[in-house]
Amino acid sequence: MTFLLVTDLDNTLAGDAQATLALNQKLTALRDRVCLIYATGRSYASACQLKRDAQLLEPDYWITGVGTEIYQDGNRDAAWANHLSQHWHRETIASIAQSVNQLVPQPDSEQNPWKLSYFLKSTTADEVLGQLRSKLAQAGMVAQVVFSSNRDVDVLPSYGDKGLAMSYLRDRLNRSPEDTLVCGDSGNDISLFRQPAFGVIVRNAQPELLTWYRQHRQSRHYLACSTYAWGILEALFHFKFIPS
Ligand code: GLC
Ligand code: MG
Repeated sequence: MTFLLVTDLDNTLAGDAQATLALNQKLTALRDRVCLIYATGRSYASACQLKRDAQLLEPDYWITGVGTEIYQDGNRDAAWANHLSQHWHRETIASIAQSVNQLVPQPDSEQNPWKLSYFLKSTTADEVLGQLRSKLAQAGMVAQVVFSSNRDVDVLPSYGDKGLAMSYLRDRLNRSPEDTLVCGDSGNDISLFRQPAFGVIVRNAQPELLTWYRQHRQSRHYLACSTYAWGILEALFHFKFIPS
């Protein structure tokens, strides 16, 4: 019986080299039972670089750009790209975001046709995000605004986020929520926890994810006692994906 392990990279799978190594060893021993999916905010190129730097295993699938792109064997999933293009008016959304003072565009390498990313300059996040959301709504734009790590603001198509990309892949693979563990630490992982699946929040999680957990948690969600990839290992035992 295979299961899906869908994990964020920065500060979840990666961040503590010893923990990554311990989890790698466990997964290598189980490799034919695990479908490994990386779900990250990074671009594909940047995620591949992190894989080399942090010595991560080769995954079966990559969900990159906060769910706006899906890759397998170096090829981007064209059907997913077409799906996200519906009702997505990138240029209009970019000009609206530009009119919000406190948003500074991230480098070009982190932008893609379905993802507009900014750094938040001020500390009044609620006010700035509220302003952006209401300007988008006034212009009739359907888009999601995702806030992570008290700094990153991503504007994404309403059809595309990490959770929706995971669900799309899972349907294609004919797997069920009971066979899935999702893992994360920050705001851009909330969409993973919204989809039916077992979920682990690592102990070093960011405040926005911990707040979401307190308000929306379900019995299938687990706040680990341990940090980084130790938290993933803990959850694999906790949910009995692997025998202790
Ligand atoms: C990664 C991406 C960045 C994004 C952030 C939060 O750091 O590089 O573009 O804003 O994740 O999703
Ligand atoms: Mg992270």
